[in-house]
Amino acid sequence: MASIELAGISRSFGDVKAVVDLSVSVADGEFVVLLGPSGAGKTTTLRLIAGLERPDAGRIRMDGRDITDSLPASRDCAFVFQQYSLYPHLSVFDNLAFPLRSPLRRSEPAEVKRRVEEVAAMLHIEGKLARRATELSGGEMQRVAIGRALVRRPRVFLMDEPLSSLDAQLREELRVELRRLQRSTGATVIYVTHDHVEATTMADRIGILEGGVLQQVGTPLEVYGDPHTLPVAQRLGSPAINVLPAEWFDGRAPVGTAHVAIRPEDVRLSPDGEAPGFQVIECSLVKHQLVAERHGVEVHARVMLDEPLAPGSQARFGFPAEHCLFFDAAGRRIGMP
Ligand SMILES: Nc1ncnc2c1ncn2[C@@H]1O[C@H](COP(=O)(O)OP(=O)(O)O)[C@@H](O)[C@H]1O
Ligand SMILES: [Mg+2]
Repeated sequence: MASIELAGISRSFGDVKAVVDLSVSVADGEFVVLLGPSGAGKTTTLRLIAGLERPDAGRIRMDGRDITDSLPASRDCAFVFQQYSLYPHLSVFDNLAFPLRSPLRRSEPAEVKRRVEEVAAMLHIEGKLARRATELSGGEMQRVAIGRALVRRPRVFLMDEPLSSLDAQLREELRVELRRLQRSTGATVIYVTHDHVEATTMADRIGILEGGVLQQVGTPLEVYGDPHTLPVAQRLGSPAINVLPAEWFDGRAPVGTAHVAIRPEDVRLSPDGEAPGFQVIECSLVKHQLVAERHGVEVHARVMLDEPLAPGSQARFGFPAEHCLFFDAAGRRIGMP
């Protein structure tokens, strides 16, 4: 496999700045997830790495070699597209074998069979090899699409929201499978998603993209626990981090604080808590979740309760200072370099 380095990459489409001065290094064998909302520039970034787009500025290196001007085929990236595109008239076997039979590769038939069967077993579709692609469920089709990337031994895997069209249960199953496969093969993977659960469970490191700008790169724990901007703090976690007005923290927040953010698991519920006057909206013992409101601001707390609090009843919260994150009006974390 290979390492990838993006150095100051930019790409615009007319007035739209899809990717802005993006720099990131992905180590050989690393699983990096680019996380961001729709339109953040995730697909464009993958297409730039694959050579399907050319950057307006910046360089791309693979294993230290500059590949900015080289053809897609010579880069040897396997791309799993968001919309799986199988050949409907071909069997599952032939769909999986297709990349191995390309004129560039021309593998021996026995080798093709061996690779296809190996990958089909990994993805638990070995019983479907004789079927036509159109006879599969959505989840099975997506496995074939991923399998078509896996049959080759590319230098890098580029995966564009490969699980987003699947139902929750299958998504979870394939998430674990893909990660297991990656670990056992030592593959370099750049994986794109808008799903923060996918990002935090799969990634060695997460890069958060917003409006074409890479906001922060770090391990899941680093970006969750130590976000540098408010958008990064809000991108990870469910329920989302609470964002509270600075007035509630008079004298306890650093100068210049506009927003105070605190994770639901860090909010305390106590009879003598320092923030009274919240009205309970929802309380679930099963999800350990309490939602309450004061002056139009909702607070989500993860709490253990023996008895539910009735909607409409009063609650008092504690927001321990050591768990509070302070942001300025521009959304930058205060005290960050
Ligand atoms: N070929 C294109 N022509 C014009 N605009 C494009 C093209 N590709 C992407 N864009 C725009 O660039 C921005 C980033 O798109 P994209 O990389 O697809 O984001 P994402 O994959 O994160 O949803 C969007 O505003 C999108 O409309
Ligand atoms: Mg996309």
